[in-house]
Amino acid sequence: MSKLYPVNPEFAAAARVSADDYARLYDESIKDPEGFWKRIGQRLDWIKPPTKIKDVSFDPSDLHIRWYEDGQLNVSANCLDRQLEKRGDKVAIIFEGDDPKDSRRITYRELHAEVCKFANTLKNLGVVKGDRIAIYLPMIPEAAVAMLACARIGAIHSVVFGGFSPDSLAGRIVDSKAKVVITADEGLRAGKHIPLKVNVDAALERPGTSSVETVIVVRHTGGPINMQSPRDRWYHTLMEGQSTECAPTPVEAEHPLFVLYTSGSTGKPKGVLHTTGGYLVYISYTHELVFDLREDDVYWCTADVGWVTGHSYVVYGPLCNGATTVMFEGVPNYPDYSRFWQVVDKHKVSIFYTAPTAIRALMREGEEPVKKTSRKSLRVLGSVGEPINPEAWEWYNRVVGENRCPIVDTWWQTETGGIMISPLPGAIATKPGSATRPFFGITPAIVDADGKVLEGEAEGNLLITTSWPGQVRTIYGDHQRFIDTYFSAYPGNYFSGDGVRRDEDGYYWITGRVDDVINVSGHRLGTAEVESALVSHPKVAEAAVVGCPHDIKGQGIYAYVTLVVGETGSDDLRKELVAWVRKEIGPIATPDYLQWAPGLPKTRSGKIMRRILRKIGENKPDQLGDITTLADPGVVQNLVDERLIK
Ligand code: PRX
Repeated sequence: MSKLYPVNPEFAAAARVSADDYARLYDESIKDPEGFWKRIGQRLDWIKPPTKIKDVSFDPSDLHIRWYEDGQLNVSANCLDRQLEKRGDKVAIIFEGDDPKDSRRITYRELHAEVCKFANTLKNLGVVKGDRIAIYLPMIPEAAVAMLACARIGAIHSVVFGGFSPDSLAGRIVDSKAKVVITADEGLRAGKHIPLKVNVDAALERPGTSSVETVIVVRHTGGPINMQSPRDRWYHTLMEGQSTECAPTPVEAEHPLFVLYTSGSTGKPKGVLHTTGGYLVYISYTHELVFDLREDDVYWCTADVGWVTGHSYVVYGPLCNGATTVMFEGVPNYPDYSRFWQVVDKHKVSIFYTAPTAIRALMREGEEPVKKTSRKSLRVLGSVGEPINPEAWEWYNRVVGENRCPIVDTWWQTETGGIMISPLPGAIATKPGSATRPFFGITPAIVDADGKVLEGEAEGNLLITTSWPGQVRTIYGDHQRFIDTYFSAYPGNYFSGDGVRRDEDGYYWITGRVDDVINVSGHRLGTAEVESALVSHPKVAEAAVVGCPHDIKGQGIYAYVTLVVGETGSDDLRKELVAWVRKEIGPIATPDYLQWAPGLPKTRSGKIMRRILRKIGENKPDQLGDITTLADPGVVQNLVDERLIK
């Protein structure tokens, strides 16, 4: 039996949702989804209110997902214009730079003016509704400005994480045929300069990127860069003299808001497409309830805007709710291991949302860096991105939150748009390591490998059986891949790719991915991507990549490499291959272990048996299972003998 932490009665007394409310509203949301989401939809300002609420089929032969279909609205007007009357002078964004001396506060009125100016800039450059705009920026307010300006004119943004390589950026530009790239001279991380503009220059030399007409460059560090005329334009020059008014373009509820690329089990990253109305309803509502948001909260989510968490819970959710949101450019351990808590004290942060990997990294440094800060402003703590181990949960609760702050462990995905399974802090008792219960309107189900639905206490694959407004609508440019990836394995349901266990209290425990996706420090990576980066090296004949346990990252990357005939593995070559993968994809894909493999375990039809490689990488050579079906069972012994984790 795992430990149960009851809801704090003091917290519950003032909470937005009580235990009774949760039961009643969940029931309503399941019995009458149309009526429920019609009512919740009214939280937005609609230019034309919707009359059709839901039109969905999860049937693979007729797959479509439409919410609030005949409504019209504008996301940027919901995040900015409608806040002006009551919250014009309220701080919308607190920017905290990599350097602790560097911070800035931007009010809703100022943000509105800046977004209008930038929307006008984009219009002047010929950007029209439906155009794709790539955003490759550090965590600076201009990233939010760029996203909101796109939304204001109906352009579709594709934010690319600043840690991705020129090749990864190029791949995303090619797939989305972006017309404009918005970047900065450099980013900053722990005092180190990240050459963003240089990366853009390199990306735009790759074939297929000629859709890009303009590169807009924010001057951030002032570092040296080459501006190529007429393609490259300075942000500050373009903004000069632009009007601070720009009427928001009304768009249909199902107009695309953004594409965000994420890794899958096969092939290149997929462009997850989210639309306007349902997405904004869902993420603003979950943001308000899961974090029990109040008017005077200072809310800080440490995610980068390059990931979905940054989209939904740094920018759109908080701003749509009129909250004050912190954007942090730095890292948890710079200048020292107290940085997170120093920022909390400096800006009086009351809601703090981060990833288990950060908690584990800080936990390793002991309690002292935490204890020397006050943190008395903190009220709610959140976790996202990967399963949180109970030890890290307990530490977060006891050391960071001093047993005072409820923890919300939120399970969701790029594809789900917003939080799906999570405690509501005034309503649901928590258990360390469990994401607890589904949010309103969410219908999880557990199936075995044959698709049989398991009731009660069970473990299997996690499906969501009915639609919710925030869900992915398609894969950009490849609707068939969308159907194949999510709706074919268990027809009529959305398949999450995650494993899950439901306990005796009906609580959900995510057990991790069941496909060939690994979760490194809360970031998704397809093993196929790392493999194809490795085999693109001239000395590599073949590679297989699996996840392995890692104390800080949750999962590490374990690569088995077969060299071309005539090459032998050496430490220098190992370093060269590791550096090669970093260059090809980005530092997040850096292999933690790289083992030379004279042969890989394959079936007679040539399929690599990753199950065996996973067990070897986990240092469980006694659990390899049946290896008699391998074409050459002999290769296994060598891999076991030479394994890198013993
Ligand atoms: O495996 C689950 C894990 O992260 C995956 C989604 O990754 P991504 O699309 O990059 O989105 C991350 C931020 C929402 C999921 O399939 N995951 C996410 N949150 C949790 C989690 N696993 C366990 N517990 C969580 N709270």
